[in-house]
Amino acid sequence: MVEELVEPAAAEAARVLETAAPVPLSQVTLDDAARFSTGLAELDRVLGGGLVPGSVTLVGGEPGIGKSTLLLSAAGSLADPPAPMAGGGRAGAGKSVLYISGEESLRQTKLRATRLGLSSSPVALLAQTQLEVILEAIRQAKPDVVVVDSIQVLETSVLASAPGSIGQVRACAYELVKLMKASGGALFLVGHVTKEGFLAGPKVLEHLVDTVLYFEGEPTSGFRVLRSTKNRFGATHELGVFHMTAEGLVQVSNPSELFLSDRAEPVPGTMVTVTLEGSRSLLVEIQALTSPCGLGLPRRRTTGVDFNRLSMLIAVLERRVGLHQLAQQDVFTSSLGGVRLLEPGSDLAVALAIASSVKEQPTRPHDLAIGEVGLTGEVRPVMNVSQRLHEAARLGFTRCFIAAQRLPGPVPGIEIIQVRHVKDAVARALGAAAPSSTPSSSSRG
Ligand code: TYD
Ligand code: MG
Repeated sequence: MVEELVEPAAAEAARVLETAAPVPLSQVTLDDAARFSTGLAELDRVLGGGLVPGSVTLVGGEPGIGKSTLLLSAAGSLADPPAPMAGGGRAGAGKSVLYISGEESLRQTKLRATRLGLSSSPVALLAQTQLEVILEAIRQAKPDVVVVDSIQVLETSVLASAPGSIGQVRACAYELVKLMKASGGALFLVGHVTKEGFLAGPKVLEHLVDTVLYFEGEPTSGFRVLRSTKNRFGATHELGVFHMTAEGLVQVSNPSELFLSDRAEPVPGTMVTVTLEGSRSLLVEIQALTSPCGLGLPRRRTTGVDFNRLSMLIAVLERRVGLHQLAQQDVFTSSLGGVRLLEPGSDLAVALAIASSVKEQPTRPHDLAIGEVGLTGEVRPVMNVSQRLHEAARLGFTRCFIAAQRLPGPVPGIEIIQVRHVKDAVARALGAAAPSSTPSSSSRG
C-alpha cells in the first residue's frame, strides 16, 4: 500500500482544461526526428539507429553492472567536439551534455571519467539529488542531452515520502520527462533493478518513457548485454554487446566469436546454436553435464538456458528418445558467457548437448543445431534460418541440424541435415562423431 496525498489546489487546477482541436493524421507534419549518434555504435543499435531528440530512455540494471560507466562513456562521446581534438582525441557529436550524478560525488565521477579516458571532456557535471534544483539547472543550461544517475536517489520536496519510494520515483521522473519533452532535449534515466524485484524500480516508469533498455550480464564474466524491451522509435529486442575492462566498456561488434569455446577437439556435452537477437544472429555454445545423483531428487541447474524449457527437454529425452537414465541424473546446462537464450530455437542444441553427455559420445566441433522441440519430440522450424546459417558459415561451421522445412537456398560451406524428431538428430549427431571425421578442425576465424 502506498500513501499518496492529493493536494486540493492541484485537483482544482486539473478541472480547468484548455480546449484543443484534433488534427487529421494526414496533416501532422514530421519535424523529422533527426537522430544523432551517441558515439557508441552498440548503444546506437539498441536505440534503433541513434538518439532521438526529445526522447526519454530508461536504462535499468542491477547495481554494479555498469550503467554509470556506460552512460558516462556515452556522455563523453556525445559532448566531444565533432572534429577530433588537438590531442588526437576521438571525434564526438558536439552536443551539450549535462550529467547529473546523484549517487557519486564530482570527485568520484571525475575518477571514473579519468579511467575512461574522458578527463578533459566538456561534459557538464552536477552532483545533486534535489529535483527542484535539477529542474532549474536544466532550464538554465538547456542541454541537448541530460543523464540522470539514478532516478531512485532524487527527491522532490512536494512529497514527504523517502527517496526511492514509488511516489518519489514516479513524481521525479514525471517532472523530468515533462521538462525535457518541452525543451526537446534527450533524457537518459538510470534505474536500479533490485534483487528483490522491480518495486520502485524501472518497472513503475516503463509507461512514462519512450525507450526501456536493460543492461545485464553475469557479474563474474566481463560481458555485458544491452537489450531494449520497449522502443517507440525502433525495433525492440536489439542487442548491444560490451566487454567490461579496466579502461571501461569496450564495444564488441562481432559477438558470435565470444560465446564459443575453442572448438578444436570433439568433446561430449556441447552443441552450438544460433540465436536471433533483433537483427543480429549470435552463435552460442551450450554445454551440458549429467552425472548420477545417488539418492534423493536429481538436481537441474542452468545458466543462460531457461529452467522450464530445460525441464521439458529432459522429459522429452527421457520419454521420447529413450534416455531413461536421465531420471536418476543431475543435469547442469550453461550457455557460454551466460548469454540468456530467450528463444525456443535453441531447444534442439540443448537436447543434443544433454544427450551427448548422457551417452558420453562427443559431438563434432563444427556442427550446430537450430530448432524448437515440441512435447512429442518433434523438431519445429524457426524463423530466419537463412540469416542464421550464413552467420554459422562465416564462423566456419560445416554441418547444421534443422527442422524439415523449406529453405530459401543452399548456404555455401554448410551441409544441412533436416530432422523431424529429436531422436533422428541424436542418432545422426552422435552416431559418427569420431575425432578423425573432422579434417578441417581449425577453419574458424
Ligand atoms: P558502475 O558503472 O558503477 O555500475 P552501476 O552504475 O550499474 O551501479 O560499474 C561498476 C563496476 O564496473 C565496478 O564493479 C567496477 C567496474 N568497472 C570496470 O571494471 N572498469 C572500469 O573502467 C570502470 C569505470 C568500472
Ligand atoms: Mg552507478
